[in-house]
Amino acid sequence: MPEKIILDTDPGVDDAMALYFALRSPELEVVGLTTVFGNGPTELTTLNALRLLEIAGRTDIPVARGAANPLQGVYANTAAVVHGDDGQGNVFLPAPTTQPIAHSAAEFIVERVLAEPGTITLLAIGPLTNLALALQREPRIAGLVRRVVLMGGNAFVPGNLSPAAEANIFNDVDAADRVFAAAWPVTMIGLDVTHHATMSSAQLEHYGRAGNPLAAHLARITPFYRDFTRTFNGLEGIYVHDSTAVAFLVCPEAFTTQKHRIRVDTQGFARGKTWPARVGLYGSEAWAGRIEVDVAVEVDGPRTVSLELQRVCGSIP
Ligand code: BDR
Ligand code: CA
Repeated sequence: MPEKIILDTDPGVDDAMALYFALRSPELEVVGLTTVFGNGPTELTTLNALRLLEIAGRTDIPVARGAANPLQGVYANTAAVVHGDDGQGNVFLPAPTTQPIAHSAAEFIVERVLAEPGTITLLAIGPLTNLALALQREPRIAGLVRRVVLMGGNAFVPGNLSPAAEANIFNDVDAADRVFAAAWPVTMIGLDVTHHATMSSAQLEHYGRAGNPLAAHLARITPFYRDFTRTFNGLEGIYVHDSTAVAFLVCPEAFTTQKHRIRVDTQGFARGKTWPARVGLYGSEAWAGRIEVDVAVEVDGPRTVSLELQRVCGSIP
């Protein structure tokens, strides 16, 4: 039986890659998309979620619109330089022909988890606001999800939005701290591993040759993102942050994890930093009572990236 996932997402170029990797993986069944601000305002990311499903011929998958702002404060869009003004590499797709469902993201998550206890995995690849709101709405979901796998955070490496913080966590520090505090099984796929999962410019060329609409869309949108990474990171290729969380679900043997309690710094210059406390190694009152999170610390990046390409492209010559 495939693992049923709700993909909580802010598409986003690498979100599009992750969605298509998941849709083309028989180990997974995408039962819904929930949208959040991050790589653009929620209005835009919701349109993009609908567009991406339409391109993939999967308009049967519901899209639930999520939070427009973090739990505290107001969303500030700083991502256009990374993902384009349209969140999809400035290709400016036509309007989608479909609509989001009437339920909010938090309502959808709660309903699906209650309807199928122990079955639904929440795969979160944007800021964690919707997950925090779902927990607030129905705390019992913590004991009823199959697991939570999230792309976000940086345990032992620098951040990418600031020296301290990774973007998804930084964009809603309070929601992230609640997600790491709740009593549900969480795996953190952070920059510790995603910075070792790079798709080279030569590998990106495969999308243009694959001959299916999903790969063709990725071929259009990835050059903008690659140009950003080239300029800001000096990398000839891209980090496939969000796809690495999908890879963890379909190929866990490519990862090494460690158990840590996580707290999120919510104020000051290190705002958004995910601080790990390894159980048994050292302790601190500040982490007392926190659940242990599986933090990914190593990945076989070439393996997960080539699996992603094979899945989305069909075969790699
Ligand atoms: C995360 O931030 C976003 O820009 C990406 O889509 C990814 O989810 C990486 O820090
Ligand atoms: Ca994302």
